Amino acid sequence: MQIKKIYYQEIDSTNKEIERINSSEGTVLIAETQTLGKGQSGRSWLSEKGGLYFSILVKPKENIHLIPLISGLSVVNTINKLLILEKSNISIKWPNDVFYGNKKISGTLVESKFKGNKIEHCIVGVGININQNKFPEFDDNIPTSIKIISGKEINKELVLDEYLNNFFYYYEQLSNSNKIIEEVNNLLYMKNKIITVFTSGKEIYGNLLGLNIDGALILKDENKKEHIIYSGRILK
Ligand code: BTN
Repeated sequence: MQIKKIYYQEIDSTNKEIERINSSEGTVLIAETQTLGKGQSGRSWLSEKGGLYFSILVKPKENIHLIPLISGLSVVNTINKLLILEKSNISIKWPNDVFYGNKKISGTLVESKFKGNKIEHCIVGVGININQNKFPEFDDNIPTSIKIISGKEINKELVLDEYLNNFFYYYEQLSNSNKIIEEVNNLLYMKNKIITVFTSGKEIYGNLLGLNIDGALILKDENKKEHIIYSGRILK
């Protein structure tokens, strides 16, 4: 895959801009700051200096539901390669948030465009908290940064390159869904604990058993009924 990086000082959202400029597959658009960074579920993503904000345009032919998972895995592998942190503290809050302990380091917003039922492209927008010293107060998903955790400032370009190496490695292996899902399963946040998931307009509460072969959440409720959740948001 030919990777082409484009840098901006400031943009509204790298996800929006990469779409506006009609990018080819393998384009990576990076901004120092975003004025209207987009998060999941219509929320905004605080994008101050010090964080890494980028979007990748890809045209997957299969298993696009695994794209969020491979982004989370790529962030985890990147952190483990570049820093000596307590590995057992790093987890993936399904489908792609990366946590250190109970604080969020990174999130991914995947936006897909279809023509009929054919995929035209996926935009993989990634935010990683790297050199920020502090964050405003958040009500949920309390953020932290690599600098706050490790006490060290790290080079954002190194993080980007390591992420991209990992991302495209997994991307070439999208057909091998078992391996990808197993890796995420081993890193799953709140596994075997009671969680609440918001899905299809309602909240479901139960024990998080893990992921099924499609990468969906398996939740066992208090009546021992198993729920398979393909899309939704873990609330707590
Ligand atoms: C989340 O809510 O966890 C997803 C956050 C995704 C943020 C990134 S920052 C780069 C890209 N551009 C955006 O506007 N959003 C994504």
